[in-house]
Amino acid sequence: MSANHDKVFVVTFAGVLAFLIGLAVVIYFTAGAIQANTIEQGEDPARLARIAERIQPVGQVNTDPNAAVTQPPVDEGAADKTPEQVVAEVCAGCHASGVMNSPKIGDKAAWSALMSAGLDTMVSNAINGKNAMPPRGGSPGLTDEQVRGAVEFMLSESGL
Ligand code: HEC
Repeated sequence: MSANHDKVFVVTFAGVLAFLIGLAVVIYFTAGAIQANTIEQGEDPARLARIAERIQPVGQVNTDPNAAVTQPPVDEGAADKTPEQVVAEVCAGCHASGVMNSPKIGDKAAWSALMSAGLDTMVSNAINGKNAMPPRGGSPGLTDEQVRGAVEFMLSESGL
């Protein structure tokens, strides 16, 4: 009886042992294959570049005191705008409806009252700002000539 029990134990034990060894071998080779795969991909410079691009910080602080200071972007192409475009895109925002008591385009009386101070005064007020009127209508990319053109355009639209 006892010899039989021992035999059953040895057979079962050997079976379990063999199974575990087999499992260990399978895990060993699977791990090796995955690792080899990862190393292969990891050394691919194109893939490293893609990873670096994906994990790059949103912004960087430039600590180089000699670095050129980047100018804030100026409205590109603002210099090519005609007086009509400048008025439509910049000035009309206020002057079309008379926002904040701005002289309304078409209000001949309001504009002719201002005209008494002279066109140059009006233009310089438009360039430098006056009360609620922001300098250059809030569009710093506009040249002096464009502001003058816009003033003249609004005057002619107002019948002056
Ligand atoms: C944010 C609104 C706003 C925008 C945009 C704006 N203006 Fe004005 N503008 C005003 C207001 C308000 C006044 C009246 C200022 C006052 O006399 O108190 C005014 C006044 C003026 C005057 C009369 C200045 C004077 O001599 O009293 C001129 C000229 C003028 N604007 C030109 C322009 C031109 C040109 C543009 C576009 C490039 C422009 N404005 C865009 C609000 C605006």
